[in-house]
Amino acid sequence: MDNEADVFYRELPKVELHAHLNGSVSVRTMEKLISRKPHLNVEHSMTAIGKGQRRTLDECFQVFKVIHQLVDTEEDILMVATDVIREFAADGVRYLELRSTPREGINTGLTKKRYVETVINAIQQCKNEGVDIDVRFLVAIDRRNGTEVAMETVKLAEEFLLSSDGLVVGLDLSGDPKVGHAKDLLPALHKAKNCGLKLSLHLSEVPAQQEESDLLLNLPPDRIGHGTFLHPEVGGSQSLVDKVLKNNIPLELCLTSNIKGQTVPCYSKHHFKYWYQLGHPSVICTDDKGVFCTDLSQEYQLAATTFGLSREAVWKLSQQAIDCIFAPETMKKQLKQKWTDLQHQVFQ
Ligand code: IMP
Ligand code: ZN
Repeated sequence: MDNEADVFYRELPKVELHAHLNGSVSVRTMEKLISRKPHLNVEHSMTAIGKGQRRTLDECFQVFKVIHQLVDTEEDILMVATDVIREFAADGVRYLELRSTPREGINTGLTKKRYVETVINAIQQCKNEGVDIDVRFLVAIDRRNGTEVAMETVKLAEEFLLSSDGLVVGLDLSGDPKVGHAKDLLPALHKAKNCGLKLSLHLSEVPAQQEESDLLLNLPPDRIGHGTFLHPEVGGSQSLVDKVLKNNIPLELCLTSNIKGQTVPCYSKHHFKYWYQLGHPSVICTDDKGVFCTDLSQEYQLAATTFGLSREAVWKLSQQAIDCIFAPETMKKQLKQKWTDLQHQVFQ
């Protein structure tokens, strides 16, 4: 990790809504994975982007390729998922929505169904161990894989929506934003919505995607990942912004990810400012805490120092994220109570 956040930010109870499982693997877990597969000759520099370093988005996607080679069996997925959940809990995250793209393997016998079951097992294992965090799962569609795979993924997610005891709550659309077009995925996304899956879509992550963003916003999604180029100042448009505002669609904002992935030039120019000033629901998230060497406490601290937020404003920001979760009202109520119980301790 680049830096450790101050106590206030670590003790602040937090909600994490945008975390890709394989992008969230810590150095410690990575060491275990590398020692399991020494023949791959992977070095840490190939799986993480350290302090002051930047990569193009294309290079970031190369990093995921390396990590996917290291995480390709049920045992790997179980270890990675349990470690990631425990780490988020240790960082003060009290509610986590983890997302991941189901993969299969000819050599390992892994199936996409088993992949999802394994993540669910990891969530249940952590619950049974008494780890202080509630976790839900979003099944991810990788936009690179096209129409048919997207439809299969929705069917898989629907199956688990009905059978996972409420642990699978929705669908994520992610993957290299420069590959494929969302219009090919619309039938799958409509189907997902109709069967009750919540939708969190990566949207306008790179410039010049107004047409695609407009199509996706018409669904409408339940949350937006990044939305970096939606507003007019960066080449988006007022009509896109109006659609987001009209439907009150929360944004998941990942500062360090956008800086290190070079879609935003520096922290002070992050679009958090634009949406926060509008009073629009904006949730600070990590995206890929392992790859970008960060954690949620640090991201809150960075937002606070960059944009001059008081501790009270930071508290409100973390508290308001509760209203943006995909789990039902009962969970929101429980979390709000937890925040109330912790407030005195955090501010003392
Ligand atoms: P996984 O789905 O758990 O394997 O996590 C890694 C995957 O998440 C990558 O292969 C991408 O498909 C997706 N991902 C992670 N970060 C980003 C991002 O910033 N933009 C788009 N997709 C991403
Ligand atoms: Zn993402």
